[in-house]
Amino acid sequence: MTVHFIGAGPGAPDLLTLRGRDRIAASPVCLYAGSLIPEAILAHCPPGARIVNTAPMDLDAILAEIVDAHAAGHDVARLHSGDLSVWSAMGEQLRRLRALGIPFTVTPGVPAFAAAAAALEAELTLPELGQSLVLTRTPGRASRMPPRESLTNFAATGATLAIHLSIHNLATVVADLLPTYGADCPVAVVWRASWPDERIVRATLATVEAAIAGSMERTALILVGPVLAAEQFGESSLYATGYDRRFRPQSATSRFAGSAE
Ligand SMILES: C[S@@+](CC[C@H](N)C(=O)[O-])C[C@H]1O[C@@H](n2cnc3c(N)ncnc32)[C@H](O)[C@@H]1O
Repeated sequence: MTVHFIGAGPGAPDLLTLRGRDRIAASPVCLYAGSLIPEAILAHCPPGARIVNTAPMDLDAILAEIVDAHAAGHDVARLHSGDLSVWSAMGEQLRRLRALGIPFTVTPGVPAFAAAAAALEAELTLPELGQSLVLTRTPGRASRMPPRESLTNFAATGATLAIHLSIHNLATVVADLLPTYGADCPVAVVWRASWPDERIVRATLATVEAAIAGSMERTALILVGPVLAAEQFGESSLYATGYDRRFRPQSATSRFAGSAE
């Protein structure tokens, strides 16, 4: 018996990996994390599977489901939205499973920031303008932030910011970022990226609050940084004509000549 942790992706059912789909299809028990997992993904469960929404359950109750499945010798597909490496609460479940000696696997998923960038048709790193992406959030009722991980500290880097779990804190986000990024800094908010009712608002730090006007809650990602509206940026050296590299040696005397395979 194995517990398969599976990143179910940002919403669109066809943004599930093939490995994730196959593990769901082979598991007689499916524990899924609430309304962010679409019905069409649960439809991959085998006929007669036990399918449990864990949104109203605490960790002990979730573990009790897993322990019951373990006793019955049934594999479990454990679904979380997006990818499992950020804000999935997988870490605490793995710690319990290690202590209980219950085997598990981890299958990654498409994270929300990637789905939001795709919806915006945007590359979040552009030559010289932005070469770092910070995945962060603001404090919530259940989660304090480590003191040095403040938005103002991240803002000091000028990096592209992907701010999760924070649409209800938009006023604070704007206030924290205005002094460093400036009023004209582009902002894009993507609500329910990849879902049929996806919405995109493009604005600046000065205008984003009015543009949203409280019309979005919960599943929205706030992206901030100069890369979001940039048309003026350099092309990457890697693909520049004349750039000498392993896969495109520029002469017989290149240090890469003959090493392309
Ligand atoms: C608990 S976190 C889960 C993050 C997820 N594990 C991931 O890999 O993206 C939930 C937050 O992720 C963002 N999010 C998740 N799915 C999203 C989507 N489809 N569109 C926009 N934002 C999304 C929102 O900021 C939301 O508040």
